[in-house]
Amino acid sequence: MRLTVIGTGYLGATHAACMAELGHEVVGVDVDADKVAALEAGRVPFHEPRLAGLVARHTAGGRLRFTSSYEEAGAFGQVHFVCVGTPQRRDGDGADLTCVESAFDAIARHARKGALLVGKSTVPVGTAAGLAARHGRVEVAWNPEFLREGFAVVDTLRADRLVFGVRTARAERLLRTVYASPLGAGTPLVVTDFATAELVKTAANSFLATKISFINAMAEVCEAAGGDVRKLSEALGCDDRIGRAFLRAGVGFGGGCLPKDLRAFAHRAAELGVDLGLLRQVDAINMRRRDRVIALARELCGGTVLGARVAVLGAAFKPDSDDIRDSPALNVAARLDLDGADVTVYDPAAMDNARKAFPLLGYALSVDEALRGAELVLHLTEWPQFREVDPRRAAALVYRPRIVDGRGVLDAARWTAAGWRFRALGAPVPAGEGEER
Ligand code: UDX
Repeated sequence: MRLTVIGTGYLGATHAACMAELGHEVVGVDVDADKVAALEAGRVPFHEPRLAGLVARHTAGGRLRFTSSYEEAGAFGQVHFVCVGTPQRRDGDGADLTCVESAFDAIARHARKGALLVGKSTVPVGTAAGLAARHGRVEVAWNPEFLREGFAVVDTLRADRLVFGVRTARAERLLRTVYASPLGAGTPLVVTDFATAELVKTAANSFLATKISFINAMAEVCEAAGGDVRKLSEALGCDDRIGRAFLRAGVGFGGGCLPKDLRAFAHRAAELGVDLGLLRQVDAINMRRRDRVIALARELCGGTVLGARVAVLGAAFKPDSDDIRDSPALNVAARLDLDGADVTVYDPAAMDNARKAFPLLGYALSVDEALRGAELVLHLTEWPQFREVDPRRAAALVYRPRIVDGRGVLDAARWTAAGWRFRALGAPVPAGEGEER
């Protein structure tokens, strides 16, 4: 089929490349001419494993191209996917729909009569119905995306489920043709109305966020009661009804999706007269975890971080990503900097983005460089290479061996045996902690 994908960020670039991988002819559209030029040359302007290979292969093979022209896209495609961003509004918690509305307006103006416009962006419930009413010349469908950064290609090619929000059998038929290959391979499909399709996405993200905040609330209780949240989580996860996923306690969730989707959902529900106070609590617990890391940092530094050299391991909001949007690691780093600490950040992928957003923080080119001379180390993004740091070697590099494990994955006994003062969220202070040198 001939498809277009409007918006070439994480979602759109991945969707475009994966649709080409499924055998379709695809045109990606973006108003940003630099992005279009990079993608046309087979380059992906952000870090996403496997994506660059797909883009390069399919642009070279002619199945995938990019343009800034809606006219060209409208004439080309039978089905147009809208994959633009819906950031949090500057004046509140609601979603800013400016990009979605202008993308629909632009493609509807140029699309062939009866073309199918498929929204993939995360939007407040009711958006699809509004867009359908506004664009009678074309047909609208909603097909939410659930991809995780770092796994975007796998999540798109082998989705856990597909959701089609449609009003006609024709729209369903067209979407079934687009996704014939994954559907043939057994991917579950839920066909539903617009409102439910929109809600599936926000409900899924809210549930994931709730799981994380639940375990982080348990971490708070463990801290107060002398329990160990890692063991608690391990035991909870053995129950199939609960499951292991998203039960890692730590500095909490960040990124371009969970925090803003949660707020936008609570906001939209309130507009509809439904009080989702639960989600406000989830958000508040999440933000408190950042405060807790700062409190532990102060405690380990004898009451104040003023003048302390602090190494922050991690800048991306999660590993395998260079995305720093609402990153807990950088939030903590910037706040310690404001408190007078001398902060040095290292991240394997997000250094350029971090430098641009926080030019006044210090940056190191390697873990070793970040550790050298540090009085406190904060482990805030769960990159595998941080887990592999040898505590004995690291102790020889720092000025004072003190560490806060904000991701709950380091081995407390090993670090303590190597002479470190070790703190983790929701974990008891390790026994046998050595005296500071
Ligand atoms: C999320 C959803 O998973 C995805 O389905 C949706 O489409 C977009 O939002 P993403 O933002 O890429 O994807 O990140 P995800 O892997 O969900 O992680 C979110 C955050 O939660 C990260 O900051 C991560 O470090 C944190 N997290 C995750 C925890 O703190 N504990 C956990 O147990 C799991």
